[in-house]
Amino acid sequence: IPVDPFDLVIFGATGDLARRKILPGLFRRFCSGQMPEDARIIGAARSDMDTEGFRRMVAEATREFGGGRHCEDGTLEQFLERIDYEAVDAMGEGGWEALKTHLRPGTVRAFYFSVGPALFGALAERLRHFGLADDESRVVVEKPFGHDLDSAKALNATLRQHFHEDQIYRIDHYLGKETVQNLMAVRFGNMLFEPLWNAQYVDHIQITVAETVDVGGRGGYYDKSGAMRDMVQNHLMQLLCLIAMEPPARFEPDSVRDEKLKVIRALDPVDYHHIVRGQYDADDDQPGYRAHVENPRSTTESFVAMKCHISNWRWAGTPFYLRTGKKLRARASEIAVVFKDAPHSIFGPEAGTHRNVLSIRLQPNEGMTLGVTIKEPGPGGMRLVDVPLDMSFAEALGPEAEEVPDAYERLIMDVIRGNQTLFMRGDEVEAAWAWTDPIIAGWQSRGEVPKPYDPGSAGPDDALMLMHRDGRRWRDIR
Ligand code: BG6
Repeated sequence: IPVDPFDLVIFGATGDLARRKILPGLFRRFCSGQMPEDARIIGAARSDMDTEGFRRMVAEATREFGGGRHCEDGTLEQFLERIDYEAVDAMGEGGWEALKTHLRPGTVRAFYFSVGPALFGALAERLRHFGLADDESRVVVEKPFGHDLDSAKALNATLRQHFHEDQIYRIDHYLGKETVQNLMAVRFGNMLFEPLWNAQYVDHIQITVAETVDVGGRGGYYDKSGAMRDMVQNHLMQLLCLIAMEPPARFEPDSVRDEKLKVIRALDPVDYHHIVRGQYDADDDQPGYRAHVENPRSTTESFVAMKCHISNWRWAGTPFYLRTGKKLRARASEIAVVFKDAPHSIFGPEAGTHRNVLSIRLQPNEGMTLGVTIKEPGPGGMRLVDVPLDMSFAEALGPEAEEVPDAYERLIMDVIRGNQTLFMRGDEVEAAWAWTDPIIAGWQSRGEVPKPYDPGSAGPDDALMLMHRDGRRWRDIR
């Protein structure tokens, strides 16, 4: 279904995110017919480029980072006709009046800040000062949303000087992932799971976001952040919220975000014995973390594993184990809900213990597997075996699911529709920092150094021990 006509201004339009994700994503929406004929995209950046030059850059970006199944010959030219460019000085006066001439009255107006947070305030202020934005306009801001609680509060305060909360779209692209939204469909669209979704039946929950990439060219940014700020405070926290929250009354922005906020506020502070930091080593042919960043003695973590508790009626006593890292064995993101043992085995001790595990795979090969226990086939008596009830979303849903929109595509269309459900509210971001800050401060005050781990492994041994001590084990990263 096409969205309403819009004018989308992308600040930082020549940057990496715009080239890799935003512009190719908009092209795919155009090909699929969702972007209306009279939508306009206006690139804005410092570079003194003209519209032709920008269109060439967009054409290259779409070729490199993907058209889609519906992108037929000739559509790229039609898409490019909808694109303009203005050189704008974010901190000065230059270019703003010219940018304004591109905007049409009565059209949905969105401004995407694909720039560092240091520029958010200047952009917001100028949008108002030069009369480009009004009370109906929307602004989209990228992560990192601050560095800690104080900086996040300051950013919120600056943005709110110029825009209302319902005009601010804070992106966490994990919320735009198909399977992440499926989490809510699985929980709240089925009768089967929700009655068991609590401490009485769930032994523990594991959330893993494992990556094979290193920090490569992003060392400058990453070394100041580390896995805790880069992944846990936002992406893993959002997954935790969706898996743990109470059923919202409606699938509407504030209903959902109120419930997520309650989860973050119910998180206990993490005991430092329950958290492991790691940093990948060099191996024979590849440099280690410290060669990717400027500081050869960096103690920034590229891996974190931790055990958390949510102190509320539903989850008291059920641990949530989170882990994420770079340079691990496989790119595999999964949420696993591990149910408790049956209260009594009628098959006797020789049948062993078996547990149901619901695994939700976020990427790659999005899908769900429910491990169930059955009788081992054959005449050998009542021996039990675990088998997977496996569902790959792509296979189950057929061709319709072949081209799942990328997270960014979906989120940008939601901005145009004015739907904030999959965006973070200011208080959520602040609550997440309020939980994260003491963990990082603890590392600093104890002078803690991350444990080295081998590239291609599952992280440091201490992370395995974190679960072994509790008589549990991580699921394989495959
Ligand atoms: C980004 C982080 O937000 O998410 C990156 O800054 C990380 O460090 C990326 O690699 C992971 O996203 P995805 O969609 O590839 O899982």
